[in-house]
Amino acid sequence: SAQKLAATPPMGWNSWNYFAGRVTDKDIRDTADLLVSTGMRDAGYVYVNIDDTWEGKRDAQGHITTNEKFPDMKALADYVHSKGLKLGIYSSPGDQTCARFEGSLGHEYQDAQTYADWGIDYLKYDLCGFRKKMLADAPNDPVKQNKMMRDAYMLMHKAIVKTGRPMVYSLCQYGFDAVWDWAPEVGANLWRTTGDINATFDRMTVIGLNQDGLEKFAGPGHWNDPDMLEVGNGKLTLDENRFHMTLWAMLASPLLAGNDLTKMTPEVASILMNKQVLAIDQDPAGHQGKRIYQEGPVQIWSRELADGSTALAVFNTGEDASSMRNIALPLKQLGFSKPPMATDVWTNKPVGRLDASYKPTIPRHASILLKLTK
Ligand code: DGJ
Repeated sequence: SAQKLAATPPMGWNSWNYFAGRVTDKDIRDTADLLVSTGMRDAGYVYVNIDDTWEGKRDAQGHITTNEKFPDMKALADYVHSKGLKLGIYSSPGDQTCARFEGSLGHEYQDAQTYADWGIDYLKYDLCGFRKKMLADAPNDPVKQNKMMRDAYMLMHKAIVKTGRPMVYSLCQYGFDAVWDWAPEVGANLWRTTGDINATFDRMTVIGLNQDGLEKFAGPGHWNDPDMLEVGNGKLTLDENRFHMTLWAMLASPLLAGNDLTKMTPEVASILMNKQVLAIDQDPAGHQGKRIYQEGPVQIWSRELADGSTALAVFNTGEDASSMRNIALPLKQLGFSKPPMATDVWTNKPVGRLDASYKPTIPRHASILLKLTK
């Protein structure tokens, strides 16, 4: 069931953010090897997900085939499984995917069975081509368009269930039609809440810091998905990579690394694999964090954890270091009648009791992540 499959937010790696249309069978095998040798698998990153551009044409019986970049998907799945990892794949409910490869329209049951036969464990289902169909079939009728979209996602859910093989079901329709209201009903384990991320601080924060309000829709088995990680991509700085990871952990977000593991620096590895940060993301209670304070470039977010403690993140989106001299942590609001004990999550070092004298300076684009206990 969905509950068992994604009891905590799914973790793994996806090809799109770095490789996009260039991804090959070799990249997936290299990634699988590196997920093991870097320790990422053991830290929880178990899904290796192939995004768009693996698809070939359909054979005479209508079965989807792979293109020349992926000579043998079954053999690739066997290889990935032999490493103690799981394999994810990608399709669209439309006739074409976003990158104009073959979609699943009219072949949903057949495709789900093909994926099951290959040994696929995760499906990302990306609206793209189907959106064109919605607009063409129900022009100027958003109600009907949205029904078509829900039906299309339900159809693939049924097709997956029929195979009998558990597959994490990832909806990618960029948050249209308040997807969080209905995604669990179509069997979704996660659903994208926004358009695409990219490897810039601006885009990452525009997405992540706008997730406030969606916390009530997340929980074990079904998660908001603010998109895959850009940690280690582009020109993100150390502080920006940490900010990204801190925010995604506060959001109980799926953690799909999107960097080139063959070139991963020790610094990026340490950010992706910080045990205490991952434990917050993967907290078994599954309460997504929310914003509790905002003033200028400073935001404070909190998240209740299963052990009764509270994760508290302070973000500085500004272009200068921001002193918190005028900002008091809203500790009463968080239920702390006396100063709580704090641990710095990134360093796992005690900070001591937090009282009014706690006024850290936060560098440009940096964040602080604390765990508070009574
Ligand atoms: C749009 C999605 O949002 C991306 O994550 C990626 O899957 C591309 N489509 C692939 O074409």
